[in-house]
Amino acid sequence: MTGMKIEEVKSTVKTQRISAHSHVKGLGLSEAGEAVKVGAPGSGGLVGQEQAREAAGLVVELIRAKRMAGRAILLAGPPGTGKTAIALAIAQELGNKVPFCPMVGSEVFSSEIKKTEVLMENFRRAIGLRIKETKEVYEGEVTELSPVETESPVGGYGKTVSHLIIGLKTAKGTKQLKLDPSIYEAMQKERVEVGDVIYIEANSGAVKRQGRSDNFATEFDLEAEEYVPLPKGDVHKRKEVIQDVTLHDLDSANARPQGGQDILSMMGQLMKPKKTEITDKLRKEINKVVNKYIDDGIAELVPGVLFIDEVHMLDIECFTYLHRALESTIAPIVIFATNRGRCVIRGTGDIVASHGIPLDLLDRLLIIRTLPYTQEEMSAIIKIRAATEGLTVDEEALNILSEVGSKTTLRYAAQLLTPCSITARICGRPNIVKDDIKDISELFLDAKSSAILLKENDDKYMH
Ligand SMILES: Nc1ncnc2c1ncn2[C@@H]1O[C@H](COP(=O)(O)OP(=O)(O)OP(=O)(O)O)[C@@H](O)[C@H]1O
Ligand SMILES: [Mg+2]
Repeated sequence: MTGMKIEEVKSTVKTQRISAHSHVKGLGLSEAGEAVKVGAPGSGGLVGQEQAREAAGLVVELIRAKRMAGRAILLAGPPGTGKTAIALAIAQELGNKVPFCPMVGSEVFSSEIKKTEVLMENFRRAIGLRIKETKEVYEGEVTELSPVETESPVGGYGKTVSHLIIGLKTAKGTKQLKLDPSIYEAMQKERVEVGDVIYIEANSGAVKRQGRSDNFATEFDLEAEEYVPLPKGDVHKRKEVIQDVTLHDLDSANARPQGGQDILSMMGQLMKPKKTEITDKLRKEINKVVNKYIDDGIAELVPGVLFIDEVHMLDIECFTYLHRALESTIAPIVIFATNRGRCVIRGTGDIVASHGIPLDLLDRLLIIRTLPYTQEEMSAIIKIRAATEGLTVDEEALNILSEVGSKTTLRYAAQLLTPCSITARICGRPNIVKDDIKDISELFLDAKSSAILLKENDDKYMH
């Protein structure tokens, strides 16, 4: 293998279910790294848990300074104390240039794939590569975007796009280009519109939308929109192009059998055998090329974060594998989370250890503890959750919910919100009141009450 496919690399970021944490926007730390109090601006949607947040803030700084690679952290604390929330807040703080790969311990058992294979894949999802290349591009703010249609050559009623006329403007001037229809498709994929700043790579025809031009910034900013200045210089020029990919992106791009119109790779066209699987051999070859890019100063490694939630679900084989992987020269930062105290290490039969993690691995972890919430904190968190779900909760009802939370878990209390809102609506009320909670908590059990009932009625269940 002489090179690898980079230009066509598609992001392979996993989509995750984070709806329960949608109110979490960051760690909520001040410039000095201190936890901002609830309600104050910049609290990131987080309440209390100051020490853990501040410790997590330090970790973020170490990651940014690239001083954390190959290190591992454990978030440990009782259920519902915000471990997952804090891990996701770390991801928010790191932004989208540093890879963050979340997984749950049990994932390793959930497929036909070998456990260590699942771990390896996620490991490589958590290691980024920033590639800098100088490329010939056409860049500017789109002033015109008109597909030119002709009657379909096949006859009938259809029309096909024969070419695309596009106007690009920079601070220096405007240029009109006539482009191939395939580039029109690429534009549609990137959702390019008049007023966007884009560049088109001359060689490949790849289109990159950089953002909306400053000239179109309004006071009604759409939150997700990124505004960029009008490019300087000529429309046609050489430009340093930066691409952020993960090692897994590269693995899967190079594993896929080639097809369709392909793009030149950085080091020339690749003759690839038809393989669809990511093998160890392929990974080794990718590593070789990656190391060469790094040596040549073309690329830079960006160690990201592998977050393994519910780490007590892993077994001894996984732990051994992880420990070894952490020692390798290319490793991400690993953040574990668990709500277990002392328990058996899975796969050993009877070896008990703190958090179900083997001692030698435990020994190299930095541990961040999360502590139980006070009732006021519970109440503040439930209030934020309710607001995010667009629900209003009476003061009295909020008190009861936070009491329920302290007796069971915060998660259980927060989960009652949605069904309570339904009974409220049935009764024609816009707000959740005491009675809704009473009704609903009679219908649904929390884990503890359910366990008590099970014990009392043990003989009635199948064994
Ligand atoms: N300090 C906090 N501020 C705001 N919201 C929080 C905070 N802590 C937890 N939450 C929210 O409360 C719910 C439960 O918290 P989370 O799932 O993070 O707990 P956990 O420690 O991961 O629990 P488990 O051990 O059961 O996995 C989530 O919706 C979470 O977003
Ligand atoms: Mg959790």
